Amino acid sequence: MLILGIETSCDETALALLEARTEHGETLIKRYGDELFSQIEIHKEFGGVFPMLAKREHAKNLVPLLLQLLKKTKLLETGTHGISKQRERITTILSREHDLEKNLINFAEHYQKPEIDCIAVTVGPGLEPALWVGLNFAFALKELWDIPVIPVNHMEGHVLSALLPHTTEKDGFQTLLPVTFPLLSLLISGGHTELILSTGWHNYEIIGQTRDDAVGEAFDKVARILGLPYPGGPEISKYAEIWRTKGNVSTIKLPRPMIASDNLDFSFSGLKTSVLYLVKKIPELTHELKQEIAAEFENAVTEVLVAKTKKAIEQCVPQTLTIGGGVIANKHIRTNMELLAKQYPGITLYLPHQHLTTDNAIMIALAGYLQLTAKKTSAEWEDVRANGNLRLSHGSPSVC
Ligand code: KG4
Ligand code: ZN
Repeated sequence: MLILGIETSCDETALALLEARTEHGETLIKRYGDELFSQIEIHKEFGGVFPMLAKREHAKNLVPLLLQLLKKTKLLETGTHGISKQRERITTILSREHDLEKNLINFAEHYQKPEIDCIAVTVGPGLEPALWVGLNFAFALKELWDIPVIPVNHMEGHVLSALLPHTTEKDGFQTLLPVTFPLLSLLISGGHTELILSTGWHNYEIIGQTRDDAVGEAFDKVARILGLPYPGGPEISKYAEIWRTKGNVSTIKLPRPMIASDNLDFSFSGLKTSVLYLVKKIPELTHELKQEIAAEFENAVTEVLVAKTKKAIEQCVPQTLTIGGGVIANKHIRTNMELLAKQYPGITLYLPHQHLTTDNAIMIALAGYLQLTAKKTSAEWEDVRANGNLRLSHGSPSVC
């Protein structure tokens, strides 16, 4: 089946087409194409993502990206059977998104329904105004093409992003990397820091989470304290790497919050405040000092993430470990997670390809497909709403 993935939860407008099928218990996938427009440059001057601006940009870019995607995948065919029946519904659904409404009506008047079987769309967590644009776009396409819409939790997408093979075969199907359950996932992004345990597709339990700042948020805030631009993660990582290549030993010591606590939770706000106090005491923040602080901060974060993942491994005895979210683009964290996994021969570790660490629509399409294979009924897809605080599981964390 051919699935259109739609992702608009934050500052990336992304669409992807993924063909997927299951044979002898294996999931076979073919990446038809993906398109992404990053708004980072637009939000940079605000030092973070500005929700109403993100919404406006998504509304402006969705139809042009769809056209590009269909053109590149040779699924765009001119001609239409008329949209008189659907026009009114589309106009109602997109009544608050005028750019999107105008563009989609124009698209519908010129092009036929492509051979797409269903739509998978992110419904949360994320910025609610941004999520609603993607969701309303999906609803409008459902009206136009008469195909189902599968609601996807963005975090499920990040869990699964590591299972996509790192190489693409131009015209062929590939096997999704095999998972033996239980599956443990560490999700580290700008909005989340969570340890997730899964015993089957579309079945998740949060067993650890941050009590304050997310790890990516801490990277971004520390970068701001050091006078580095947004997003801070790649900047801190660059500075830290320069320090390490020089072989310097740091005299600065930052805390490793909750590293020895007897639970699987995290806390990063105190670490960020320690950097703030440290910087306030320094008369002149030189490049050298920025590099040293960046390296020590990265070390502190890495040690905590590794210690908590190790604790979760020992408590839950998973057979597969995946790590997802923008922060796993960080080379130092990747290397240290690989070293951790080597200590457990019974565990297979999968890290996402660098391009799939940040938000994308391929992982959303994949999550939609695996939801279908988990035999979720279409009844569960009724009355779908965007939810900025959507969680992967409810209830209090267990100890596996
Ligand atoms: O998953 P993502 O693209 O968006 C959210 O869903 O939040 O993650 C974005 C976060 C930002 O906080 C960014 O600073 C961080 O990922 N990030 C990194 C690196 N690249 C991106 N953090 C540390 N090291 C990196 N190389
Ligand atoms: Zn994300």
